[in-house]
Order: sequence, then C-alpha cells, then structure tokens
Amino acid sequence: MTCLVVVGSINMDLVTVAKRFPAPGETLLGERFLSVHGGKGGNQAVAAARLGAQVHMVGAVGDDAFAESLCDELAKEGVGVGHVSRIADCSSGTASITVAGGENEIVVVPGANARLEPSHVAKAQHLIASADAVLVQMEIPLETVEATLRIAHAQRVPVILNPAPAQLLPMEWLHLARYITPNQHELAILLGADPSEDFRSLMHRTPCPVVLTRGAEGAWFREEGEPQHQAGFEMEAVDSTGAGDTFNAAFAVFLHEGLPIAVRKACAAAALSVTRLGARGGMPHPAEVEALLARQHV
Ligand code: RIB
Ligand code: NA
Repeated sequence: MTCLVVVGSINMDLVTVAKRFPAPGETLLGERFLSVHGGKGGNQAVAAARLGAQVHMVGAVGDDAFAESLCDELAKEGVGVGHVSRIADCSSGTASITVAGGENEIVVVPGANARLEPSHVAKAQHLIASADAVLVQMEIPLETVEATLRIAHAQRVPVILNPAPAQLLPMEWLHLARYITPNQHELAILLGADPSEDFRSLMHRTPCPVVLTRGAEGAWFREEGEPQHQAGFEMEAVDSTGAGDTFNAAFAVFLHEGLPIAVRKACAAAALSVTRLGARGGMPHPAEVEALLARQHV
C-alpha cells in the first residue's frame, strides 16, 4: 500500500452554480448553492485515500463553525488528521466558487492555512520519513513549502510539488522536488518566463522532472530528453474544480508503476472527477479508473 503525506490547505468551498459568470457590478440569480469540503491539500489527501493509499494530512483549520466538519470529513475518508492543527481566533480557509458551463472562478481566503508553519511540518517528520512520497501545493506559506521540500529531501523521500496557485520560486527549491506538476500558465510563472513561450521549451528549461497538465488535452511529461504526451480522456464536464488535485493524487498513488502509467492513470482519474459537482465529487475509486482505461484506449 502506498503511504503518502500531504502538506497543504483545507478549505470550505462555497459553491454557486449559475448559467454564466456575472460581469463586474452585475447581480445575477444563480441556480444552486452548496457548501462542500475542499482546499488543494485536503482534496489531494481524499483523492489519494479513495484510490487506496494510506494518507496523513499536515494542515490547519480555524476555530469557526467549519473547522470540525472539515476535520471530520477528512477522517471519514480515511485520512489521518493527527497533524491537522486548530488555530485559535482564526477562520478556516474558504473558497468562494462560481461554476458556470463546467468552468469555475475561485476566490480563496486562506485563514488558518496561512498559519501553517514550518514547525508543523517538522512535527510530522517521522511520518514523512516513512512515506513513499509527499505531496505539497502552494495555498500555504512559502516557507512551509520550503520546509517540506527540505525535510523530505533530507530523508530521501520524493516530493511532488504542485505549484498551484503559482508564484515565482527560487530555482534551488525546484531541484529539491522529485516532480513538479504545473499547468502551462503555472510553469511560466514559476520560472519567471514569458507566458506565451511554448510549453515544451518551458519543460526543457525546468531544473527537475515535470508533469504538465493540459486539462481535457491530457498531460505532457518529461524526465529527460523530449517531452512525452498522454492524451486526455473524453468526459462530459460538469465541474472542473479539483481535477488538478485528483490528477496529483493519482499520480502519487500510481508512481510506483512507472511514469507513463502514473500519468495515464492520473489523466483518467482527473477526467472522472469532472463528471460530478464539487471538488471531491467524482473523485474515483481504483475500479472506476480501471474501467475507464479499459473503455478508452488513449
Ligand atoms: O483545487 C481546487 C481547490 O482550490 C478548491 O477545493 C478550493 O478550495 C481551492 O482551494
Ligand atoms: Na468534481
């Protein structure tokens, strides 16, 4: 069984479904509202647990009405929450999401996620030491991302860095990651490059192996040599929120089967995730991934 540690954000997603996105200054009547559990860290932890991994989460919630529900939901999905801290006098992370035509717009307020410190990661060092891999994203303070990279690297545990939302990072940090998993836009920001530069040339300039996600068009991956392409799986998109998180989780879970297979399964898992509303709606179990792989030979 794959053992993973996820260091990252935990949010309550406040999701409004509308026919289209409102223009600035416009009031629109929406169709549906739901509050669901999200946050890139929490989502990746849950997706990995559903795919059969043993997962521990390092994260933080506040002391508001959302906190308990956020922790309970992770635990219910089988994610270890012993390293999810409760921060006093602080709100839990929230994401106000509008979904229209299968696409989304998101405003995240980090709340307690901004208080996840390097010391929280250091306290989980023993879990990291015995993990097969660590997953980390960038909805937490950058010094905590750095601490995660350094602690795992010192223990020779591979880190999958999902640079979302993207920021320019020191090159040295990228050398500490086993893989980075940006989309094209995120990779350009990460490298301080021109966003119109061809993504294949960006991939050549990345100082560590890279898996670049392209939404419905699948993914490109490069360890060395020329980037390879994995086509996307065709699905009716209801809500693409969390597709990247599902991709990252599946990639980590199946990495022991080799890079091309892990990318293929990650594309399949991400495609399944967009068929249901909510970041965690549609996150598949292994049998669903296998069934899709058998159905679509891409
Ligand atoms: O990646 C999707 C997630 O991004 C949502 O669940 C939301 O919480 C934002 O953090
Ligand atoms: Na979904």
